[in-house]
Amino acid sequence: MPTRAWFPTLLYHEPLLRRGLARFNAELAEECRRIRDCDAAGRRWSAKNYPDGYTSYASLNPLHKFSSTFADLERKITAHVRRFARQLDMDLRGREIAMTDFWVNIMPEHAAHGLHLHPNSFISGTYYVATPRGCPGLKFEDPRLSKFMAAPPKTAGARPANLPHITYPAKAGWVLLFESWLRHEVAANRTAAERISVSFNYDWK
Ligand code: NI
Repeated sequence: MPTRAWFPTLLYHEPLLRRGLARFNAELAEECRRIRDCDAAGRRWSAKNYPDGYTSYASLNPLHKFSSTFADLERKITAHVRRFARQLDMDLRGREIAMTDFWVNIMPEHAAHGLHLHPNSFISGTYYVATPRGCPGLKFEDPRLSKFMAAPPKTAGARPANLPHITYPAKAGWVLLFESWLRHEVAANRTAAERISVSFNYDWK
């Protein structure tokens, strides 16, 4: 073929563990709800900044410094982040990758999370804990979108890699990693059940 792709945007999507995920997630979901119940400051912050939802991002962060459950989860996620960094051919110059932020997101019916990126980190991601059938996935935007200017729209049969957005379904037990500069959003949860995830940022130093 005369045409080749360059400058790819890589996304990493893999189950956290090979087995035992159902029980692991049931206990983790309970812990996430306990954190919400205890975190009055986080509930107040979320009421203003995350309508209908709850996040511990502004109040109990980083969770792996407070909770042995999250410290264990951090170790499991870090193995995936190392693999992703290798896929990106990143030379970490002998430095260590380190999780800097770790927080809970609980999205009941109607909660949504607008388009954003994750400053002050190089790899970010989400681990899905509870994903009721029909709940929204994570929608990513082509980082070159602002440069397209006069480009025509895509054809109805366009290859997915050539489209300006891709939505990864939220799948309980799966880790989804991306480079922190990649903008993403979560549409409103239209199911009656809570969608629970934990998100994290990594630095290298
Ligand atoms: Ni995010």
